[in-house]
Amino acid sequence: MWFFTSPKIAFGEDSLEQLSSIEGKRVLIITDLIVSKLGLLEVVTSELKKQPRAVEVFDQVEAEPSFENVEKVAAALLRFQPDLIVALGGGSCIDAAKGAWVLYERPDLKLDAVSPLTKLDLRRKARLVAIPTTAGTGSDATWVAVLTDKSQNMKLDYFASRELVPDYSILNPKFLLKLPRQATAHTGLDAIDQGIEAYVSQWRNDFADSLALRSIQILFEYLPKAYDNPDDMVARQKTQNAATMSGLAFGNSQVGLAHATGHALGAIFHMAHGLAVGISNPYVIQFSSRDAAQLYRDIAYVIGIKEESAKAATGMLVESIKSLMVHLRVPLSLREAGISQDAFKQNLETLIEQTNRSTCTFVNPRVPDPEEVRKLFACMYEGRPVDF
Ligand SMILES: [Fe+2]
Repeated sequence: MWFFTSPKIAFGEDSLEQLSSIEGKRVLIITDLIVSKLGLLEVVTSELKKQPRAVEVFDQVEAEPSFENVEKVAAALLRFQPDLIVALGGGSCIDAAKGAWVLYERPDLKLDAVSPLTKLDLRRKARLVAIPTTAGTGSDATWVAVLTDKSQNMKLDYFASRELVPDYSILNPKFLLKLPRQATAHTGLDAIDQGIEAYVSQWRNDFADSLALRSIQILFEYLPKAYDNPDDMVARQKTQNAATMSGLAFGNSQVGLAHATGHALGAIFHMAHGLAVGISNPYVIQFSSRDAAQLYRDIAYVIGIKEESAKAATGMLVESIKSLMVHLRVPLSLREAGISQDAFKQNLETLIEQTNRSTCTFVNPRVPDPEEVRKLFACMYEGRPVDF
């Protein structure tokens, strides 16, 4: 049995006003030091305080949050006892808030014991509002939190539950205006890949498909505009909406192999998530096209490639993604991204092992064996097309 899950989504330049009407007497805002220096906290706090309530801030979320960091956030929740949690920031802040929310409501659970099969009984203590400050991860709309297990130097991607879908997502394009160009590029490529992988996933379905295709179409049009002109409010709003749409798409379908390789690259080389996934994407499309070329043709069609042959359309889709990456000044290979040959060789076995263990790998349209993963990484490193 399938459910389509979604937060209530407020969007547009006045969307923050939604915050003042959300019930909650004690509010903890969970964010990081970067966001807290941008002046966004003050705006969020003053909106919340239009109702009489206590508001506190925890601003110590780390990039790519570890279990230890999530436990710190949970300690702040247990101390303050909020009935409303506001996650303000990029995917790291929202994911850390999701993880900590579970520990706050269920102190009896350990983070690595949570999976989609765990009954969590959330919302006995608090509800969750997500306010993204990037247009990328879609975590404000999904059931998953990507957390890093430092003991294994690995990103876990099975920390997921339908209960973890935030109650509200508030998409205010003004919050994106200070997002640096490089982060705009990386997070935007992540969102494009989420749309693509949701659409070709073995778990694809009619509800997720429509959001996936439209999110890709919007991002191809507006991501270069947001990159070229960071103050373009229309482009910011469009990319923000599309990122959340891609989150809804993969949150109700699944991401695939480019996320599996991306998570492994992120854990081992500490590459930004969007960069790691963005570099992986064209190679994974080439690899998966043997089994999903018709689906890639649909995607190519919505970005203006009217090509009858599915194989040719897939090839043109890959070229369009690469052209976009060049426009966004994003490297096209791991070598170009600055990873040395030695570092790559030293870590290759771990990259392969983590990719094979990822839940994202199993729902990819073509599931690779370990030898194929090795060859795929070699192509990604050298910038060679995948021809096997
Ligand atoms: Fe992603």
